Amino acid sequence: MKKIEIIPKIPRLAQLVLVIGGIYAGFWLIFDLLLGQPIPTSLMGMYMFFVVTGVLMVFTATEESTRQLVDPIQALVEEPGRRLMRNVVFFVVPGLAAVAVFLQMQPSDEAPLELRSIHPAPPSSAKIFGKRYDLMSLENPYRHLEKDDPEQFRELVAAGGEVYIRNCQYCHGDKLDGKGPYAQGLNPVPLNFQDIGTIAQLQESFLFWRIATGGPGLPKEATPWISSMPVWQEFLSEEQIWQVILYLYDYTGHQPRSWGHE
Ligand code: HEC
Repeated sequence: MKKIEIIPKIPRLAQLVLVIGGIYAGFWLIFDLLLGQPIPTSLMGMYMFFVVTGVLMVFTATEESTRQLVDPIQALVEEPGRRLMRNVVFFVVPGLAAVAVFLQMQPSDEAPLELRSIHPAPPSSAKIFGKRYDLMSLENPYRHLEKDDPEQFRELVAAGGEVYIRNCQYCHGDKLDGKGPYAQGLNPVPLNFQDIGTIAQLQESFLFWRIATGGPGLPKEATPWISSMPVWQEFLSEEQIWQVILYLYDYTGHQPRSWGHE
């Protein structure tokens, strides 16, 4: 008895395309939509390579299933009656490939993605102003005046403010929010000291090291070394750097982090 087919059978070749396309869509659905974590194209390419290889292995497991897959392709190429279809396919497939290549070669004006550590671990000691400083124990020599001599402390903060306005606000902004007039043209951007993720998390010795040695003083994990932060030990005195640090904390109202000996 001949089997009556209610649903027309999907050709093997179309099944193959549907399965691979379905898995691709599934990845996209899970990562992009459900998890909100788009996968990098290179990783997706790797997944899909294994998927395509695996699916092809299943689809060509037996001689017969291989036939079913290859026959329509062979027919398309060889049968005289399919000339029109053949011409369309041979025109469309290379056309699509050309479009894909063209789109990939398009230059993009997006900044390249760079992973760099914003707050690299400081070296345990650093050479600053020709002297070796132990950054773990180095403290702001003026900090104690906040309690001991508030009047002199205010003067030093004001001196730091002057250093800041003359040197730093061009990039870090007159409100210390990282929005100085030069900021827009810089990548990485000047840091926003108002943000609780910057100086509020740091010790004064870390700031001393960062200000004195600037972008070029950054260690390896902060590469690429493209920070525009100048090397201030070449322009300011040691005292001025400690003063501007007082000013940064005073203006923003943040407390410098300490090693917990309070
Ligand atoms: C030419 C622009 C420019 C000027 C001027 C400038 N900075 Fe910067 N600064 C940057 C950039 C860009 C960064 C972020 C990249 C980096 O960490 O090096 C930065 C980072 C810093 C950091 C690191 C903060 C952190 O959370 O790690 C400190 C502190 C700092 N600047 C202080 C100063 C002080 C103080 C002055 C003035 C004496 C100054 N900067 C002047 C561009 C500048």
